[in-house]
Amino acid sequence: MEKKKVLVLTGGGDCPGLNAVIRGIVRRARKEKDWQVYGSIEAFNGVLKEPMEVIKLNKKNTAGIHVKGGTILKTTNKGNPLDYPITQKDGSIVTVDYSEQLIEKLQDFGVHAVINIGGDGSQKISQHLHEKGLNIIGVPKTIDNDLSGTDFTFGFRTAVQIATDSFDKLVTTAESHHRVMIMEVMGRDAGWIALHTAIAGGAEVCLIPEIPYDIDKVVKRINSRYTKGKGFANIVIAEGAKPFGGEAYENESGEEGYAHKRLGGVAYRLSQQLKEAGCMADIRETVLGHTQRGGTPIAFDRILGSMFGVKAFEMVLEKKYGQMVSYKNNDICSIPLSEAISTYNFIDKDAYIVKAAKGLGISFGN
Ligand code: F6P
Repeated sequence: MEKKKVLVLTGGGDCPGLNAVIRGIVRRARKEKDWQVYGSIEAFNGVLKEPMEVIKLNKKNTAGIHVKGGTILKTTNKGNPLDYPITQKDGSIVTVDYSEQLIEKLQDFGVHAVINIGGDGSQKISQHLHEKGLNIIGVPKTIDNDLSGTDFTFGFRTAVQIATDSFDKLVTTAESHHRVMIMEVMGRDAGWIALHTAIAGGAEVCLIPEIPYDIDKVVKRINSRYTKGKGFANIVIAEGAKPFGGEAYENESGEEGYAHKRLGGVAYRLSQQLKEAGCMADIRETVLGHTQRGGTPIAFDRILGSMFGVKAFEMVLEKKYGQMVSYKNNDICSIPLSEAISTYNFIDKDAYIVKAAKGLGISFGN
């Protein structure tokens, strides 16, 4: 008897814990004799390619992978099948909707269900494909923790740990040199990584996109460290942070088919603003960048990823298509994809975590 096929893919930026999800799906599926798991290489690109780049996933090729960072299936953020970038002879790019071809190819291959492990953008694609009739289930991933409908995405806590470890190192050198250290973290339009790191590390200032800052207030907080005898200060800034009335620090990616804005480098702008606003201390900047996404996932993300994987396959058995796995109130459940993508998970500036940070003496520059 031919086995039913479930196809797994990882899309968007990579994230610690992706392999734990893949392994969780495979291990749970092995308990059902009539299912075989397949993996598409580089998100939907593997299916769209001719010949298709799709591999069988089994106990052997997924053994022990939950410990490893990255994704054994590779990933891309240039492969939206609904808006697929094609380079023309003159170098210009046109986008084509390949969703019909994609669904047809999946049918021809005999795929019963697809599990799409990805962030906000990937789950928007999942919802569109679901509306076009594809049996699809979403698994929320991103270090940014900006996906709604789940208390946490896997990968976030590993990123916070990496950022905190780096922050701790910057504190000692800031102290030795009486410097102001600015550490920039990722997160896109959400300040989750920055806020958690600022509390964990004990920053003096935390600048996040949700709370625009007044540079004079930041300087006031920094200067107070020098007048009160501490003589050094540590700032965490989220890559999407902006001054009051200003914009986030964005760059053109210059990469063909890259649909997102590129953030990164705001630490240098802040450094300049601090000097112009009268900060007398020496300032150094550290942009953590992709280290936050690399390496081994911490135990929590291995566990969350593994639970998400098992749950995703169980949702296939239950035919819960058009739904996303979710972690809510310390439990694993599922919610409609439409709900998950309807809003962005910003930090509520009235949330207790913000109040607690202020209580600890962290300035948001507002
Ligand atoms: O969404 C995850 C993330 O790491 C963001 O925090 C960051 O802005 C972006 O991806 C970087 O993307 P890329 O890997 O394409 O440079």
